[in-house]
Amino acid sequence: MSEPAASAASPALAPPRVRCFSGIQPSGAPHIGNDLGAIRNYVALQDRFESIYCIVDFHALTTTHDAETLRRRTREMATALLALGLDPARCTLFVQSHRPEVAELMWLFLTVTPVSWLERTPTYKEKRENQPEDVNHGLLTYPALMAADIVLYKASVVPVGRDQAAHLELSREIVRAFNNRYGPTFPEPQAVYTQAPVVLGTDGVRKMSKSIGNTIEIFAPADEIRRQVMSMVTDTQRIKRTDPGRPEICNVCQLHRFFGDDYEEIWDGERTARTGCVDTKKLLVERILRHYGPARERYAELLASPVIVDRILEEGAARLRPIVDATMAEVREKMGLR
Ligand code: AMP
Ligand code: TRP
Repeated sequence: MSEPAASAASPALAPPRVRCFSGIQPSGAPHIGNDLGAIRNYVALQDRFESIYCIVDFHALTTTHDAETLRRRTREMATALLALGLDPARCTLFVQSHRPEVAELMWLFLTVTPVSWLERTPTYKEKRENQPEDVNHGLLTYPALMAADIVLYKASVVPVGRDQAAHLELSREIVRAFNNRYGPTFPEPQAVYTQAPVVLGTDGVRKMSKSIGNTIEIFAPADEIRRQVMSMVTDTQRIKRTDPGRPEICNVCQLHRFFGDDYEEIWDGERTARTGCVDTKKLLVERILRHYGPARERYAELLASPVIVDRILEEGAARLRPIVDATMAEVREKMGLR
């Protein structure tokens, strides 16, 4: 198979039937980092590839241990993705545990994966620090499940944020190890990034993340979004209102790039101190609410019709069955399990 195009900008390069896959954890409210870094590419790639998107509830079990919470968040994440533009007529949306064969493939992959590869994964090291009271085995095997997610569907194009780069690299290594041992079976997955592969959080330092609590949520009440944006750290060297700002290092200015064409004028206002940080933040609140207005309406409507969402997810999992059966039959045969 030829390599997929590395950016969303050149549709002519897409070979037919190349599959695109991505997963998102139902571990909390979706934020603008998720959208700018990944979800907007899920939406864009629906028309270029045969696209499959998955709410990864098995993965979320490594951190979420309450059944009702997981069920609720899984449905909310599906609702959010639909509201943001995933269209069940143009892509397949499903819940990971509804195609449990992925757990079998993960086990098979673990038998070609050296423990040392898993132990050196940066996210595993982080989680071990962040939740020392709960270093469960799922945190270690997380990337093997991710590799299985992708190649169960023989997908090769994977839209993600940059924080997933190490996971994707490990997925490629696992796939390569499998292909070396059992013969060419799977394409090597390749990450695809947006123009905003790393969105910083309201602290202006760390990446925006649910677990850090520095997010700007997409579907929170308007007042909450206002509070989150107004709390943003800007250029820390701009002390007085009359000091010139530095848009290159101000996260509020950086975010304006994604919510209007006139960001250079906004930046100019900051540089010349015509505008202050508070003005720029207020404008950002307005722009975010306007940009996501239609999605927020769709989200509220769909959340009130869970039956529709559940049916889309069920149909998604059912549609994938023939692909999964074919892959698993091939893998079992190659490994001597049949
Ligand atoms: P998660 O919520 O960790 O499942 O992430 C879902 C998707 O959003 C993944 O593709 C992440 O790489 C992406 N993502 C999460 N946070 C950010 C961020 N701050 N900047 C860019 N992409 C992000
Ligand atoms: N690890 C990803 C995250 O935390 C979620 C994920 C699971 C994923 N399986 C995947 C992403 C397969 C891309 C492909 O965001």
